[in-house]
Amino acid sequence: MKKATMIMDRDFAIGRIDPRIYGSFIEHLGRAVYGGIYEPGHPTADENGFRRDVIDMVRRLDVPVTRYPGGNFVSGFNWEDSVGPRDQRPKRLDLAWFTTETNEVGLHEFVDWAKKANTEVMYAINLGTRGADAARNVVEYANHPGGSYWSDLRIQNGAKDPFGIKLWCLGNEMDGPWQMGQKTAYEYGRAANEAGKMMKWVDPTIELVACGSSSSQMPTFGTWEYEMLTQCYDQIDYVSLHRYYGNPTNDTPGFLARSMDLDDFIKTVVSICDAVAGTKHAKKKINLSFDEWNVWYHSNQQDQEVWKQGKWNRALPLLEDVYNFEDALLVGAMLITFLRNADRVKVACLAQLVNVIAPIMTRNGGGVWAQTIYWPLMHASKYGRGTALRPVIDSPTYDCSDYEKVPLVDGTATLGDDGSVTIFAVNRDMSEDILFNADLRGFGGLKIAEHIVLHHDDVKAVNTETDPDNVAPAAGKGGTIDGGKLEVQLPSLSWNVIRLVKA
Ligand code: AHR
Repeated sequence: MKKATMIMDRDFAIGRIDPRIYGSFIEHLGRAVYGGIYEPGHPTADENGFRRDVIDMVRRLDVPVTRYPGGNFVSGFNWEDSVGPRDQRPKRLDLAWFTTETNEVGLHEFVDWAKKANTEVMYAINLGTRGADAARNVVEYANHPGGSYWSDLRIQNGAKDPFGIKLWCLGNEMDGPWQMGQKTAYEYGRAANEAGKMMKWVDPTIELVACGSSSSQMPTFGTWEYEMLTQCYDQIDYVSLHRYYGNPTNDTPGFLARSMDLDDFIKTVVSICDAVAGTKHAKKKINLSFDEWNVWYHSNQQDQEVWKQGKWNRALPLLEDVYNFEDALLVGAMLITFLRNADRVKVACLAQLVNVIAPIMTRNGGGVWAQTIYWPLMHASKYGRGTALRPVIDSPTYDCSDYEKVPLVDGTATLGDDGSVTIFAVNRDMSEDILFNADLRGFGGLKIAEHIVLHHDDVKAVNTETDPDNVAPAAGKGGTIDGGKLEVQLPSLSWNVIRLVKA
């Protein structure tokens, strides 16, 4: 049997894990809001129309922060449309997704949902069709205690206490031609600087995320970050990264290696942030908000059909990717990559949360179920807290389409505040189990609490409403710790969570 080893020590740490790396995203897109989190008349709907069955699934994921209301949607959104009496809110054409936005769910309703779902709101402002004035007004509306026009309007609309939204996105993917109000890096950097400055004057406690490139594949990637940061470095706290992967050519080994591209992407953006800091002689470091990431390609064809059948309907079933087992493995490897960069990646949002490229699916009037990708996110969010360790892994490797020397075992480890250690590992080997050893003597006496394995013999296996547990975690074969040395078998093609607690 092939072998891999992990060397680690409690003193070899990357840094504290910001729990917000287990964040997610709800956009006014498709059935994310209408038919996803909100469906009045559904048997589980609460008094405000929110589906309790969906809230339960979100709470089980333990999502510390949820980005809202977009995405591309936000670049044409008037936040004022989404507050005040519901029957007076305007219906607007959404040019991002060719649907009609009814504004039935708006800022107050989303804040209410977020409380129920136990998540913080990360709010995006429109820097596409609007600018600094609308941005400072929405901060005043949401966060100012009272005694001013916008804060008093919030109170009049039923919320005496400020919403206290801490994390704000300065627009979305402003480099993309598909974006309403696309800008050059200079134009965007100036707009972000002025909006950010005014927003922080209203509430100096907020944190701001500026748009990086909409993906590392953009022709302007790198130069965009450098120029944009040059213009707004002093005002902002994070730069955003977005990346989606797909496997349209059915090349599983190549697909599973994509987390190496993710790691390169992160390291490149960190370098650019630090290079701009150097030119400015700045002490402040800009960290990363990876606020859109996932697998996204299964639904591309279907979306064209949906639009052919009728644009401008409410809640069109868009971006409804049905995730398979190999997608869950890549999502696991991407989470491992975030943990390995925990010193600089402080926020990450799986895009998205419900129905739209999502871990949670619903049927209108029907059930809710976990897609395959639900599981690695849940495990990482639940057990990957505390300190990210810097283990060294010695693993056999393989070559694939885009990469050489891809480790068959991709993994990392975290140290909980209670002294527990959790190892996360993906075995990328298509046909063989791997014997995995780790030296734990530096951690005192530990015992195996649990070895959770996600595996399916068919990489294309999916979960559905009628077969929701087709791809679901199960107990591993068990392992041993002898003289502080862990030995566990990682099944071929598997996501593994090895939980070690004080003996
Ligand atoms: O998450 C779906 C879309 O992907 C978002 O609206 C946009 O920001 C990105 O292109």
